[in-house]
Amino acid sequence: MGKFQVIDHPLIQHKLTIIRDKDCGTKVFREVVNEIAMLMAYEVSRDMPLEDVVIETPICETTQKTLSGKKVAIVPILRAGIGMVDGILELIPAAKVGHIGLYRDHDTLEPVEYFVKMPEDIDARQLFVVDPMLATGGSAIMAIDALKARGGSNIKFVCLVAAPEGVKALQEAHPDIDIYTAALDEYLDKDGYIVPGLGDAGDRLFGTK
Ligand code: URA
Repeated sequence: MGKFQVIDHPLIQHKLTIIRDKDCGTKVFREVVNEIAMLMAYEVSRDMPLEDVVIETPICETTQKTLSGKKVAIVPILRAGIGMVDGILELIPAAKVGHIGLYRDHDTLEPVEYFVKMPEDIDARQLFVVDPMLATGGSAIMAIDALKARGGSNIKFVCLVAAPEGVKALQEAHPDIDIYTAALDEYLDKDGYIVPGLGDAGDRLFGTK
């Protein structure tokens, strides 16, 4: 089973409270989502491989560590996932970004990919799939299905708020992936909203309703 980690650093908890507040406006919401994503990226990237490099300091020659060049791609699930991309890019500026948009057809219940644009070499990349809310787990599961079908194998899922129902569904469907969240909330209500949650993350990020 992959890792499940709640990244509950005090700075992250503080910032999450700011965006949970219904009176937080679009500008601050957008900024703080990116700040939380950046702080989470620090932990999510903790196991990035390092290699030795020989350098010269002003004093002497020395062998030190450098990132081994394992490439990263951030994969936001449209649309709310886009809100987390810039924050992660602050820490990992060379990452590529692949976008994925899906919905489930109401009649056939089959997932429909309406937009998928990935870097060519996703099989060689560490993939960070991002979506602020892990609610039922449906879109995360479909997105990861789509990435695996294209050769992606090294996948981490990163969200801000997770419902226990979504974590369970995602772990059952994709036991190999690591899941990181800033908070594990109580439950999903009958309309599919996470409680206490923060409302519709896409609407709050983009000022729609
Ligand atoms: N998606 C959201 O944006 N919010 C929720 O609470 C659940 C799903």
